[in-house]
Amino acid sequence: MKNRTDKDTAVADFHAVKHIAFIMDGNGRWAQRRLLPRSAGHIQGLKTFTEIVKYCFEKRIANVTVYAFSTENWNRSEEEVGALMELLERNIDENADELVEKDVRIIFLGDKSALAPKLADKMRDIEKRSENNRAILNVAVNYGGRDEIVHAVNSLIKDGRMSVSADDISSRLYTSASPDPDLIIRTAGEQRLSNFLLWQAAYSEFYYSDKLWPDFTPSDVDKAIDDFMTRHRKYGGY
Ligand code: FPP
Repeated sequence: MKNRTDKDTAVADFHAVKHIAFIMDGNGRWAQRRLLPRSAGHIQGLKTFTEIVKYCFEKRIANVTVYAFSTENWNRSEEEVGALMELLERNIDENADELVEKDVRIIFLGDKSALAPKLADKMRDIEKRSENNRAILNVAVNYGGRDEIVHAVNSLIKDGRMSVSADDISSRLYTSASPDPDLIIRTAGEQRLSNFLLWQAAYSEFYYSDKLWPDFTPSDVDKAIDDFMTRHRKYGGY
């Protein structure tokens, strides 16, 4: 990949990015700073999600992934978990059709068996209705990277496999329809992966923003991509 360093003339070059993934962190802090309940931060975070996803697809990024609810998020209060699940369902009801019409395939990464049956059914329905679409939006819900790898290996064992290759495992991950992410963006100043795309992130570039997710804007995506374009990806070589 071309190594660009001239920041002054940088214009976000979206063609180099086939897959961008977001760890949408900071909703809780956004709400706390305003003395609002944490759910208010998630509501604002959903607005940001809608805007950022729309922007990425307008810029012809073929694969976008977001971390909406991790396997560890069940440890939050019943009230917060309930609010997040309600938002997810509302998001499917209100926004999914527009994305599907815009040729976006929606895939939910993670184990649906622990979710409310009504929500899981809505997820399966939208996955089915959009399965032939070109661009991909992966929404990680009840997702954990370790859990995903275990699930992939178990599915190979179930098929009677005695040994497996890295490609076999990749092919059984929830993300098998997408290439590995080129760029993973995390907001809210935290610099860790938090069990997100553990296998797929082997050669991803990371970009950290101090902005809280509800404050993140399309121009912050541009900045991240400009920064990404200055990176020299070596994949273990020179
Ligand atoms: C992390 O911020 C964010 C989450 C656990 C939930 C992300 C959900 C959304 C952005 C809204 C719903 C999205 C979809 C796709 C329907 P945090 O709560 O850990 O923030 P904190 O670290 O400041 O407490």
